[in-house]
Amino acid sequence: MSNYHIKNFPEYFHVYRNSVRNPELFWEEIAEEHFLWREKWHKVVSWDFSKPEIKWYEGAKLNITENCIDRHLYTNAHKTAIIFEPNNPDEEAQHITYKDLHERVNQMANVLKSKGIQKGDRVCIYLPMIPELAISLLACARIGAIHSVVFAGFSSTALSTRINDSECKMVITSDGSYRGAKTIDLKGIVDEALVSCLCVEAVLVVNRINSEIEMKPERDFWIAPLLAEASKECAPEIMDAEDPLFILYTSGSTGKPKGMVHTTAGYMVYTAYTFKNVFQYTKGDVYWCTADIGWITGHSYIVYGPLANGATTVLFEGVPNYPNYGRFWEIVEKHKVNQFYTAPTAIRALAKEGVDFVDHHDLTSIKVLGTVGEPINEEAWHWYDDNIGKKKAPIVDTWWQTETGGVMITPIPFSTPTKPTYATLPFLGIQPVLMDENGNEITGNQVDGKLCIKYPWPSIARTIWGDHQRFKDTYFSTFKNMYFTGDGALRDEVGYYRITGRVDDVIIVSGHNLGTAPIEDAINEHPAVSESAIVGFPHDIKGNALYGYVTLKETGESRDHDNLRKEINQMITEQIGPIAKLDKIQFTEGLPKTRSGKIMRRILRKIACKDTSNLGDTSTLLNPEVVQDIMDNVL
Ligand code: WTA
Repeated sequence: MSNYHIKNFPEYFHVYRNSVRNPELFWEEIAEEHFLWREKWHKVVSWDFSKPEIKWYEGAKLNITENCIDRHLYTNAHKTAIIFEPNNPDEEAQHITYKDLHERVNQMANVLKSKGIQKGDRVCIYLPMIPELAISLLACARIGAIHSVVFAGFSSTALSTRINDSECKMVITSDGSYRGAKTIDLKGIVDEALVSCLCVEAVLVVNRINSEIEMKPERDFWIAPLLAEASKECAPEIMDAEDPLFILYTSGSTGKPKGMVHTTAGYMVYTAYTFKNVFQYTKGDVYWCTADIGWITGHSYIVYGPLANGATTVLFEGVPNYPNYGRFWEIVEKHKVNQFYTAPTAIRALAKEGVDFVDHHDLTSIKVLGTVGEPINEEAWHWYDDNIGKKKAPIVDTWWQTETGGVMITPIPFSTPTKPTYATLPFLGIQPVLMDENGNEITGNQVDGKLCIKYPWPSIARTIWGDHQRFKDTYFSTFKNMYFTGDGALRDEVGYYRITGRVDDVIIVSGHNLGTAPIEDAINEHPAVSESAIVGFPHDIKGNALYGYVTLKETGESRDHDNLRKEINQMITEQIGPIAKLDKIQFTEGLPKTRSGKIMRRILRKIACKDTSNLGDTSTLLNPEVVQDIMDNVL
């Protein structure tokens, strides 16, 4: 079967047509021919978006780590699975072969077992980008434990919320982490978080920065001595297709973060198949995705997708500007990277520093470039194309989400003609539609609407941990029988899609999804604050930045506004993390509200964007007078 590897545009169309005409047959063939199953499924897919209930490969039995590791041992045991590139360029890179990975994952899995972790238990992983991070995910999967990775830039409060939500029994962390010239005290953050987490019985600690830390007796264990004692063999737990593989939290427009649950078989099939095609990975290539494994991009396209294909995947600990802005290109040259996948925000930040940092590096190894996480603007697209791909490497602008598990709309390199700022066409098996305000599908081209998907794909999230109703309300209730993405999109004259941005209260800052509600909650905890509203405004590098309108309590005393701004950002850093800090904070007498008391964010957004020509009718507001005042004092 050639379906597994699409090589040209007519073939894409041909296979796409088959994939949507007969999805069951299509996904059955992909699954049958490319993976290791302990038992076959009896049904490829069953689904009902109204409940919603979605199952793929029901009845099948497997272990994803057998697919990502063991099966490569027969032919590729000594091939490099992971290249670890440390934060400090003077520290030697590590090449971890499939055989090494097998041993290290098994040892870690045995350590987890020895500390009481069993199938179905949740394990929180709060680690920097070091090999132990990938190994921990795989070790959980080996024994059927459900991993919940929390990005190591989140604060202790954010960490404890996530640990408690899924009742993790264990946390895997490190003494600290390197980030450019700085070190971060990760274990200290974990200790603070655990004050309010009664569910955690054990903490495993990787020694990364050799720092003096406190180890709580009976709870905290250095991992190295345990690993040294552990057996290098660990029989994989045989899992059902629909057993949860992991939970990954994403921000919602309201309330607490949503723990998206991904299951085993469908996630494996889809991430492996998309990886192969979206990057046109061929044997011997070195692939590098610069994301953090703390996000879905890292789960699917640093760990599971590449390893399921027996690929070599780079894991980079550091940041793009350390020791200088040429670091990415130095790494590309050093490891002869063939596929390079990053975020528009990184491209914009590097472009701003000029091409000098690029020019003295040999980038001829690059075959395919990718972007993900937010819309890419035309300027950044061309800079990437001209200076990094030298106009020879197709750019795959991949649109997808934590909820979708894998890439959904993307060019296939060397097949789909690219178009700047367009994610272009649906991946095989994906059926996007645009919907109007009245819930009708918008047909034809040169139209725009709300982006939905009308048929399930194997790696769609199955639920929100502990809150299936919220899963239904958020994704399946806006449009009948559709998965609603929360994004707006347009379809051009040839049917190419361009994602225009969020249509809900999620704001994407530097590629990170931030819900407005949790940030407002954090601000409102400041004793001087009465109310607040957050909106996004365009930012050259971050894509969007956050603008906060804050009203203060009338205490009679005057407060130093600059100090207050610092304190408010400090509150946000503590509650969420530095990624959610506000760029601008305007203190106002009031916030514009409807007569029913709802804050009119649309007006606030326009003012923050300095787009006040068309504010609409403000006379129906409860307090129209505040609008002028806000406009007069805009920052
Ligand atoms: C946005 C990241 C435009 C979108 C994999 C989506 C994009 C949200 C693109 C999901 C793209 C992602 N073009 N927008 N190529 N890729 N987005 O869950 O708004 O961190 O809904 O998943 O990022 O972000 P998440």
